Amino acid sequence: MKRIHNGRVTRKRNTPIYDEIKKYIQSGTLPFHMPGHKMGKGLGPDYVKNLARIDLTEIPGLDDLARPTGIIRQAEKLAAKAFAAKDTYFLVNGSTSGIYSIISTICSPGESLIVSRDCHKSVITGMMLAGVQPIFVMPEVDQYFGISSFITTESIKKALEENPSAKGVLLTCPNYYGICSDLTEISKLIHSRGKILAIDEAHGAHFAFNDKLPVPAIKAGADICVQSAHKTLPAFTQGAYVHVGSDRINQERLRSFLQIYQTSSPSYIIMSSLDIARDIMETEGSKYLDRLIAMIEQGKNSMGDYRCLILEPSSQKQGQDYILDPTRIVINVRKLGITAFEAERIIREKWGIQAEMSDLYNIVFITTVSDREDDIRRLFQSIIEMAQSLDAAKDKTQKEESLPMLGKDYSLELPIQAIKTNETLFAQYENLSIYEASGRVSKDIVAPYPPGTPILCPGELITDKIIDIILRIIRAGGTVYGVDEQLNIKVVK
Ligand SMILES: Cc1ncc(COP(=O)(O)O)c(C=O)c1O
Repeated sequence: MKRIHNGRVTRKRNTPIYDEIKKYIQSGTLPFHMPGHKMGKGLGPDYVKNLARIDLTEIPGLDDLARPTGIIRQAEKLAAKAFAAKDTYFLVNGSTSGIYSIISTICSPGESLIVSRDCHKSVITGMMLAGVQPIFVMPEVDQYFGISSFITTESIKKALEENPSAKGVLLTCPNYYGICSDLTEISKLIHSRGKILAIDEAHGAHFAFNDKLPVPAIKAGADICVQSAHKTLPAFTQGAYVHVGSDRINQERLRSFLQIYQTSSPSYIIMSSLDIARDIMETEGSKYLDRLIAMIEQGKNSMGDYRCLILEPSSQKQGQDYILDPTRIVINVRKLGITAFEAERIIREKWGIQAEMSDLYNIVFITTVSDREDDIRRLFQSIIEMAQSLDAAKDKTQKEESLPMLGKDYSLELPIQAIKTNETLFAQYENLSIYEASGRVSKDIVAPYPPGTPILCPGELITDKIIDIILRIIRAGGTVYGVDEQLNIKVVK
C-alpha cells in the first residue's frame, strides 16, 4: 500500500538484505563475531546516530586517501604512534587490499615469497595477481584440536636455505584460533639473511594495547604488517591498517600499490572508525582489555571440569606452551560427540548467541573491548549448559572417527604443484564432478571457509585423498570454497 510522507511515496520495500539484517537485530542475538564494535556497542551512541551524515566524500577539508596530506595523514600518523610503527596507512578494502599491496611491494613478477600454508586465501590470490610464486612452509598441527598451530623457526630456516632467492617471508600470526608463532625469533633469523618479514596480523590489531597479549608483529621486528581493525577493534567492516616497521620497505612503491588495489571512493565511515578505534584503544584499550581478559578467565573457571574443552596455552602437548591470544575463545566439542557445526547451531538456536565460525571440532568466539560483562557470562553459561545437555550422549567415539582429522588425515604433505600458481589465473578450465577430478589440476583455491586456508591451491594436483577430505568436510556440514553445490570443481584443461 502506498502512502505519502513528506512529499515522498512510502510503501513496503522489497529489500531482502535489509529485511534479514533487521530480523537479526530484532532477534537480540548476542554477537561473538566480527565486526569488533559489536553492533555499535563499542562506538558510542553519538557516532552511531550520525552515520549517514558521516558518509561523505573528498570535499575541501576532508583530504584524499589516495594522496593524503591533511586530516587523513594526521590520523595515520597518530595511528603509527599508537601502534609503535614507523608509518601507518589506512585501508578501506580490508586486510585483503593490504596483503595484495604488501606482496606487490616486496616482490616483482617472477620472484618468490615464502608463505605459511595456513595463510588466508587473499595471500594466494595476491601472489597470483602479482605473478609471484609461493614457497609453502607447513605449520605445526595440533592433532587434538585438528588445527594448524604455529610456524617453527626451524621450518623457516630450512625454507630460506632451500630457496635463497626468495624475497622474504609472509606469515599469518595469529591464526584464526589465536595461536601465534615466535615472531621475535623468526624476525631475527630472517633479517640475518637480509630478507623481509611481512605479517598478516589480521586477527591481532588489539595486541599493541595490553602486555598480557602476544607481542605485536611490529614490536617483534616485522618489516610490515596488516591488521583488520574491523575484526578485533571497534571499527567498521573493511577498516584495516598497514603498519610499516622498518626502512626495508619501499614506501613509495607501497603507496602506489595501495592506490591500485583500493577503491577511488574511500568510505569516510570506515576511515573515521579507524581513527576512533585507535583513539579508544590508545586511551582506554589497556584498561578495557584487562577487564575483558579477567572476565574471560572467570568464565573459564566457571566451566569446572568442562574447562578441558577450551584451547589454552597448555593445550600444546609437546614442548613449550602455545603463545595464545587470551581474548579468542576456542571450544573443542570432540568430547561431546557432535561436530562444532552442530554445536554452533545449538548455541545460536537455544541461547541466542552467534559464534564467529566453526570447523569440524571447534567453535571460535571473537571477544573485543566492546563486549560487556553480562555478554561474557552469558556466553560461558551457554557453553556449560550445552556441554551438560550433551554430556550423556552415547556412542561418541564412533562419530569422532568418521571425521577427517587435520594432521592425521590431511595437510601434513603438500599437494604436488603441477602448474605454476599464477599461470592458472587465465588458464582454460572446465567444471568437473569432484568424483571425476582425481589426477587433474585445480584451477582455483579450494578451502574450507571459514577459516579460508587452502586444502588445494591453483595449479596443484587433485588426488583421491584430497577428494575424500573435501567430501567429508562437506558431508559433516562444512562449506568448502572452490566446490559448488553440485559438487563440481574447476580443473585446468
Ligand atoms: C588471517 C586472515 N588474513 C586476512 C584476511 C582478510 O581480511 P579482510 O576481511 O579484512 O580483507 C582474513 C579474513 O578473514 C583472515 O582471517
